[in-house]
Formats: sequence, C-alpha cells, structure tokens
Amino acid sequence: PLVSMKDMLIQAKEKNYAVGQFNLNNLEFTQAILQAAEEEKSPVILGVSEGAARYMSGFKTVVKIVEGLMEDLNITVPVAIHLDHGSSFDKCKEAIDAGFTSVMIDASHGPFEENIEITSKVVEYAHSKGVSVEAELGTVGGQEDDVIADGVIYADPKECQELVERTGIDTLAPALGSVHGPYKGEPNLGFKEMEEIGAATGVPLVLHGGTGIPTKDIQKAISYGTAKINVNTENQIASAKKVREVLAADSEVYDPRKYLGPAREAIKATVIGKMREFGSSNQA
Ligand code: G3H
Ligand code: ZN
Repeated sequence: PLVSMKDMLIQAKEKNYAVGQFNLNNLEFTQAILQAAEEEKSPVILGVSEGAARYMSGFKTVVKIVEGLMEDLNITVPVAIHLDHGSSFDKCKEAIDAGFTSVMIDASHGPFEENIEITSKVVEYAHSKGVSVEAELGTVGGQEDDVIADGVIYADPKECQELVERTGIDTLAPALGSVHGPYKGEPNLGFKEMEEIGAATGVPLVLHGGTGIPTKDIQKAISYGTAKINVNTENQIASAKKVREVLAADSEVYDPRKYLGPAREAIKATVIGKMREFGSSNQA
C-alpha cells in the first residue's frame, strides 16, 4: 500500500535498520525499485526530485505510474512516494495534492528562522493530509539536479533540536559531511554530531548522498539513529554501465527494450544489495 514514511521510519529506528530512499528517473527505475522491494519484503521510499518529476512530465504522472505498477506488479510492501529536496511550500503542496505521501522541504540554504517558518507551513499542510515531512539543516555537498552546493556545512545540533521542536517534522536530514554523487576519497561523516542530534531530537534521521558510503559507516549511522538512507547515483551508474555494455557488444541493437531491460535488472540488483545492507529486507 501507499503510505507516509512516518510509521516506516519509527519502526526502522526502533528495530535498528534503515529504509532506503531510491530515486526515480523513469519507468524502468520505478519498476526495478518496486520489484526489488517486493522480492525482499522490504518497505521502500520512492524519491522524486523536482528535476526527475519534470523529466517524467509532472507529479501526477509519477503518482499514476507508481499506482499502476503497484497494481500490475501486486506490490504488498509499504511504499512511500516522497518529494526529494522540495524547494518551496508551493512545490510541496503541488506534490501532496497530486498524491505524494511524503515530502522533503529543503530550506537549508536560507537563514535559520526562514527554514523554521517554511518548514512549519509545510508540516501544517502535510499533516492535515496524513503526509510525512522531512526537513534539512546544513549543506549536503556535491550536486543533484537543481540542488547545487558550494561547500559542505555541518548541521548544528542545537539548531537541529530547535527545528524539530518548533516545526513538528517527522524526520530530519542533518548534513554531516555527506555528498550527492560520487565521493572524492573516503567520506568523513560527523558521527559525534549524528549521535548528539539523534539523541537530542528523538526523531529518525536521514542520510543523504548514500552512494559510496562504506558499509561500516552505514552501520554506524544506523546505530546513531539514522533510519532512512538516500541512494540515487549508484543506481544511475549501474544502469548506465549496463546500457554501455549492451550497445558496445552489438552495434545493431536499436529496440530500447533490449538495452533498458538489462539496465532495469542492474538497478534491481543494486537496490536489493542496498536493502540487505541497510537491514530492511524481511521487515515489511
Ligand atoms: O536526495 C537524494 C540522495 O541524497 C542521493 O544521493 O545520488 O549520492 O546517492 P546520491
Ligand atoms: Zn539528497
């Protein structure tokens, strides 16, 4: 069923695992992620950036594709459709009105008081519709679609506590050194702050930039209260690699099903690996 992230993440935190947010880019990504979740008996969060929603023609199309696939593929595990890095109240409202069950409002780049104000407004609207809300503090490095950072700023634990208390968000993404896209060298995550923020806020935490984080760091993050881990680039790399392989091996191929089909299998295998690593398999 389509659900919000709220109960998924509370349960994950209690039972010490993380639910993966896997980003959608097209039909094949959506099929692969849903099939992986069903096979693994894992709850799953479908992440949709504003850029990906534009590419897929809009929020309504995304919702209809997901609903159609859930019916045709007989999906029984809990699934959330989540706006990733929502840029404004209006965008969050548009996604909610189209049928998204969860939204992230990312007002982390502006002043703290402004972040609180926008996030509170989103929470009020979202919660009135049973939709969960994620907010961010600090800056995730790298680039993802429209979200471009010019540096990494670590979230401040005091501000995190205040943001959670004053807005009533369901989950918080404190940027603590993670990066969108591949890491240059080993990631240097602020685990001390993560532990402090997890304890002070009490809400399940989100780790963005899940691609390229070593398993030991994933396990540490989960032990410090991280209950949601976002992955996009790793699936994109797996799918692009497979398309290159197929096209390079046969210059006569032109039917998209001949190269996107294998790419879909590569995405599914990558997602299954992550679900096992995050411990969400067999938790649905
Ligand atoms: O919001 C999406 C994620 O943070 C994805 O990060 O592309 O580095 O896996 P990633
Ligand atoms: Zn992100």
